[in-house]
Amino acid sequence: MILSIESSCDDSSIAVTRIENKKILYHKKISQETEHASYGGVVPELASRLHAVALPGLLEETKPYLNQLQAVAVTHQPGLGVTLLEGIAMAKTLATCLKIPLIAVHHLKAHIFSLFIEKQTLMPLLVLLISGGHTQIIRVKDFEHMEILATSIDDSVGESFDKCAKMMGLGYPGGPVIEQLALKGDENRFDLPVPLRNSPLMAFSLSGLKNAVRLKIEEFGGSEKMSPKDKADLAASFQKAVKLHLIQKSKKIFAKEPIKDFAIVGGASANQYLRNAYLELCNEFKKTLHVAPLEFCSDNAAMIGRYAIDAFERKQFIDPNKIDIVSTKKQQSGTLL
Ligand code: KG4
Ligand code: ZN
Repeated sequence: MILSIESSCDDSSIAVTRIENKKILYHKKISQETEHASYGGVVPELASRLHAVALPGLLEETKPYLNQLQAVAVTHQPGLGVTLLEGIAMAKTLATCLKIPLIAVHHLKAHIFSLFIEKQTLMPLLVLLISGGHTQIIRVKDFEHMEILATSIDDSVGESFDKCAKMMGLGYPGGPVIEQLALKGDENRFDLPVPLRNSPLMAFSLSGLKNAVRLKIEEFGGSEKMSPKDKADLAASFQKAVKLHLIQKSKKIFAKEPIKDFAIVGGASANQYLRNAYLELCNEFKKTLHVAPLEFCSDNAAMIGRYAIDAFERKQFIDPNKIDIVSTKKQQSGTLL
């Protein structure tokens, strides 16, 4: 069995997964959404202290499995330094005390492995990763070769939903709120710019669209002057512009990439409106769409454990004295490190 820990942002999560059949034996996560809601985003120091309280409580519940563990896995990048350290400290201690190997997990690769929880690994694969921190299209050739084909030059998809929700006074996290509100709105009421529409750049950009939403809100005289209908229409128009942007850039990649399996992963992949748009695109290009079950789209330790199984089979271990957070600049291109 592998015990896996996730603490890269505002979710404290631990899982225990059986290596031979990939079954999850234990999985729980404690989200900190309520604690961060009043700030409209995650406050790193607060998140770190909440992990320090939540993680030991979860670990306590895994006691029945502790003497059967063959490895411990933990997210070490990318993420918030002060929150990653909470998970790393626990993982280092466990690996040292139990004298078992330690596996350092790349959070974005783990999001890709959320597709394979309790399933076989499927590769090669084209992946759109849309989370709170990242927006990327990745060509996953095999376990060792994952290449970034397009990435956001500014905000991520999840972040843009969060910020638009915050500007409209809708709370945090903004993704699910905007999606729900948009169901009641007219997506054609506001003509928002589709980012990089006339640019040949194979990249994503969300900050200009976010700014266009801000200007619309200002035209109303602030979010408090908007009616529920105004907010629903703006949410729907914003979501439509995000969709058109993602689809336009993805289409160019689809036209060149022979890989038949395509997947959307990350927190924002829970969005049904975006899923539907990609289903249509996949039908057009005769690709098969894969998504993870809703409970595994946002951050969780089950995906960390699932990645760790493949890493364990390759004996990709790290010395507990050497593991550290990896705080690199956001990767724009190249092989996912
Ligand atoms: O993958 P995740 O849990 O954390 C990161 O790795 O960043 O993604 C969280 C992000 C948040 O920005 C949240 O607003 C967004 O995913 N999200 C959504 C939806 N559900 C969550 N965005 C759009 N539509 C949704 N239904
Ligand atoms: Zn994530």
